Amino acid sequence: MKVVLGVTGCIGAYKSALVLRLLQQHGIEIIPVMTESATQFLGPLTLEKLSGNRVITGLFDDRSAEIEHISVARSSQLLLVAPATANILAKFASGIADDFLSTLYLSTTTPVMVAPAMNVEMWNHPATRRNLEILKERGVLVVEPESGYQACGEEGPGRLAEPEVIVRAALAVLQPAGSLSGKQVLVTAGPTIEDIDPVRYISNRSSGKMGYAVAAEAAARGARVVLISGPTNLAPPGGVETVQVRSAAEMNEAVEARWERMDVVVKAAAVADHTPAQVSPQKIKKKESSQSIELVPTVDILKSLGKRKTSQLLVGFAAESERVVENARLKCQSKGLDLIVANDISGPEAGFRSDQNEVVLIDRTGHAEFLPKMSKADVAARIWDAIEALLKPVEVGSLGTHR
Ligand code: CTP
Repeated sequence: MKVVLGVTGCIGAYKSALVLRLLQQHGIEIIPVMTESATQFLGPLTLEKLSGNRVITGLFDDRSAEIEHISVARSSQLLLVAPATANILAKFASGIADDFLSTLYLSTTTPVMVAPAMNVEMWNHPATRRNLEILKERGVLVVEPESGYQACGEEGPGRLAEPEVIVRAALAVLQPAGSLSGKQVLVTAGPTIEDIDPVRYISNRSSGKMGYAVAAEAAARGARVVLISGPTNLAPPGGVETVQVRSAAEMNEAVEARWERMDVVVKAAAVADHTPAQVSPQKIKKKESSQSIELVPTVDILKSLGKRKTSQLLVGFAAESERVVENARLKCQSKGLDLIVANDISGPEAGFRSDQNEVVLIDRTGHAEFLPKMSKADVAARIWDAIEALLKPVEVGSLGTHR
């Protein structure tokens, strides 16, 4: 197993040597990459001697190799940047590729983990906050810095996490012990927004909490997760690639682009069933507005996947206000699902904004499992237990021998 260890220029650069050593103890080969400024803080020879590999700094270091950043990206399983300065986070966030490390980031398809280290004011600056948010949305894993006394004399968050903490986080990615390790999962969550004009829209009361909990639980079980989310107030779950969309049409497009390579698709989003036939480019005036808005149906994303699925396991949600199990069973069949999570929305506690939920899980055989009211995180765990049971190959009983 190979890890690219990116080192950027800050006082904590010396700790990268300890990270390197600890990773090696787990049988991992290290390819060291340093930025120019990192070499001011730590001699490249240190990482070269410890790793047994040449330290890559510039884009044009090795003229003999075909395209070095591509070959390095392809041959490793993780890009770990420790320490990561505010500058490298900004470059990663905006896609600037002006040295080996930033170019490598753009060309890698492996998981990326950063362990930031910087002065407390730089850490708290809105630009850094925003850059980290962008990176987290893309699924970049962040080993949060510690709080404490800093080299600049100030106190606060920004000190590089301890090497043991960084290595533990890296190992969790490289050797996911979870029951879903190796699985690719797509989850949709939240409401959609269907615009009427520049200021008005049609939406619904979904908070996105249930779908976010489903995505977080899958990631915790070791899956690679893509979350496609309508507008919510929730922070993207750690270690999950989050794609923000607005309308049912945008959600459909985002799902279409990804669903084929997935093992499991969970559609927890409350997608609008209808959208205005036309979006007015100008604000509709009081006197002009007619009494009605013409609506046209949106694509039923789940149903259309159900018709075309091959090996993917498909899970849907059903919000029902009457005959919950009967209606959900019908929906499970008509949409070609393997599992449906049915919500009774008739009561006063409809479960929309709440942190709790009470659902029935109905599988493709029609079997219904009634769950008591529990936290959405616990519901997510029960949903994944049910999905994992369906993912297991059917055990064929041993055939009797005939004499
Ligand atoms: N769904 C979807 N695309 C749509 C509408 C719904 O993928 N355009 C998915 C939702 O994500 C959910 C499931 O379909 O997983 C059930 O949605 P729901 O609104 O409960 O059911 P409908 O199929 O719309 O049927 P009805 O409103 O008649 O109950």
